[in-house]
Amino acid sequence: MNNAKIGILTVSDRASRGEYEDRGGPAIAAYLEEVLTSPWTPVQSVVPDDQETIADAIAKMADIEGCCLIVTTGGTGPAARDVTPEATEAVCEKMMPGFGELMRKVSLEKVATAILSRQTAGIRGGSLIVNLPGQPKAIAECLDAVFAAIPYCIDLLN
Ligand code: MTE
Repeated sequence: MNNAKIGILTVSDRASRGEYEDRGGPAIAAYLEEVLTSPWTPVQSVVPDDQETIADAIAKMADIEGCCLIVTTGGTGPAARDVTPEATEAVCEKMMPGFGELMRKVSLEKVATAILSRQTAGIRGGSLIVNLPGQPKAIAECLDAVFAAIPYCIDLLN
């Protein structure tokens, strides 16, 4: 993952309207800065909870920006406008359900409401897309559980 471009996509109606400060995106960037040992470039975006808009943003990060990893935060719950997993599935050729399973398992040891997240992961071309819940504290909780597998997975794609 040397000189990798990494997409950080915040999915939130309120953050996209500027009514709420995006804390998830910066928390993902801080996490990656801490764990990645080689240089990387963030490609950041904030979009509303709209399936087509989310799908377009993921596809643009993968196909045009060439991000090998795209981490989303928000929109994974049960509410009507929570559609990040659907948008992810719509743009992926292959789903990687083990990421969501493990992140939920680890999160459930910390918070009972972790069962409400439908977070998943998938592959589009040479990109791995990983969904995280919107709670900023969920970011390290979830990424700690799966991060070891991420560079290996990306190596297998490229
Ligand atoms: N997972 C972790 N690790 N920590 C959390 O605080 N919050 C849960 C769950 N998963 C949480 C978590 C809650 S309260 C919800 S509603 C779902 O994620 C979905 O959140 P989202 O719709 O913001 O993605």
